[in-house]
Amino acid sequence: MGLLLKHGNVITQNDNRDIINGDILIEEGNIINIASEIEPKGHDVYNFENLVIAPGFVQSHIHLCQTLFRNIADNLPLMEWLNNYILPLEAAHTKKSLQSAVQLGLAELLLGGTTCILDMGHSRYQEIIFQEMVYSGIRGASGMVMMDIGKSGSENKTDRVLVQTEELIGNWHKKENHRISYALAPRFIPSCSSKLLKGVKSLAEKYDLIIHSHASENQQEVALVKSQTGVSPVHYFVNTGLSEFTLSLAHCVWLTREEIDLLSKYNINVLHCPSANLKLGSGIAPIPEYLSKNINVSLGSDGAACNNNLDMFQEMRLSALIQKPFRGPDSLPAQKVFDMATLGGARSLNLSHQIGSLEVGKKADLVVFNFNKVHSIPADDIYSQIVYSGKSENIRHVMIDGIWQVYNQKLQKYEENEVIKKSWYYIYKMLDNLKISLT
Ligand code: GUN
Ligand code: FE
Repeated sequence: MGLLLKHGNVITQNDNRDIINGDILIEEGNIINIASEIEPKGHDVYNFENLVIAPGFVQSHIHLCQTLFRNIADNLPLMEWLNNYILPLEAAHTKKSLQSAVQLGLAELLLGGTTCILDMGHSRYQEIIFQEMVYSGIRGASGMVMMDIGKSGSENKTDRVLVQTEELIGNWHKKENHRISYALAPRFIPSCSSKLLKGVKSLAEKYDLIIHSHASENQQEVALVKSQTGVSPVHYFVNTGLSEFTLSLAHCVWLTREEIDLLSKYNINVLHCPSANLKLGSGIAPIPEYLSKNINVSLGSDGAACNNNLDMFQEMRLSALIQKPFRGPDSLPAQKVFDMATLGGARSLNLSHQIGSLEVGKKADLVVFNFNKVHSIPADDIYSQIVYSGKSENIRHVMIDGIWQVYNQKLQKYEENEVIKKSWYYIYKMLDNLKISLT
């Protein structure tokens, strides 16, 4: 028996960007039909009159493991923030505290309408992240964060990291009816030896995997990469051959002209994280320029430790607003931003054939908006209503793979109060162990 969603205002995100008033028929997690009127034949029928249905948001750069570190290490630049706080905190996770961080992150993401994520995982307990992604019902890819040099690693770690990664690929890639997949996650060039990156390349080739990393987030990082490798980050990724695969790079704020051409030449995906880029004082990525060169751009809130939330509405709004003072008020219109939040994300995860739009044959990953709210009306343009005045409280229901994971603003798999209680318990425990105080 399928589900029939009736009388919604459907933002399809198909090639014509059709918005239709009508019905969606869903069977076994797939969209079977979209039409102005579909007769129910024993289906579960939902009346979504006066509500808007759209593809779920795809957040293409997330660190679930950092969710417990929200509001802890603020007002710091990237490298200091990372080396003095985030890497030690990530390393201090127990399985239980990691599970708590992941549950908190997933709860926030789902309630805010995110149906798919690309997560940069954890260095020791990656299986906890996959287990929780499976349980929560979210779609997405994650992978053990790979590091073998710097504070968090040592040269002799390389083989161990590669062996563990291959084991995890075997256990988790294309699981749960392909709802869960593996994404190789070399953290960023300063924490990866060339031997490790060669190993990443072989694994990408062997298992046909996407590669998820950070690049050119701030100027100090670019200078560090240049001093270590002789070239800037995107050049280095291309030199290592990783751009022969689906390569999805977070930030890409400080690229040279040549590097921008490399993004275009090798179809490298830019994972734009406007809140994190502003909060760490990293800079503003020239997104309109990337889009004008047909470079795929998607959005992500990065981690709660540098954002400090995981809310796609904030990323969408900010990504539009930060361009306007320098490039003009029409430099990044709401509709293009909504494309980045849906179709762009699908491309960054190599999932365009399954998600990003509501079309027959695609997965039933969708959100139902209620815009009958004081902060949402009036509205002439639906994209403006989402991007400029939208908030998470507009999300009424969230469906992934044909299953309601949020219904009437309530999580279906988690008890919200339990998640909150556990989060407080584990962050205090971690900070106490590390002798850091919560100010
Ligand atoms: N670069 C390398 N690791 C990280 C991280 O965890 N967060 C951000 N924002 N940048 C990084
Ligand atoms: Fe990040």
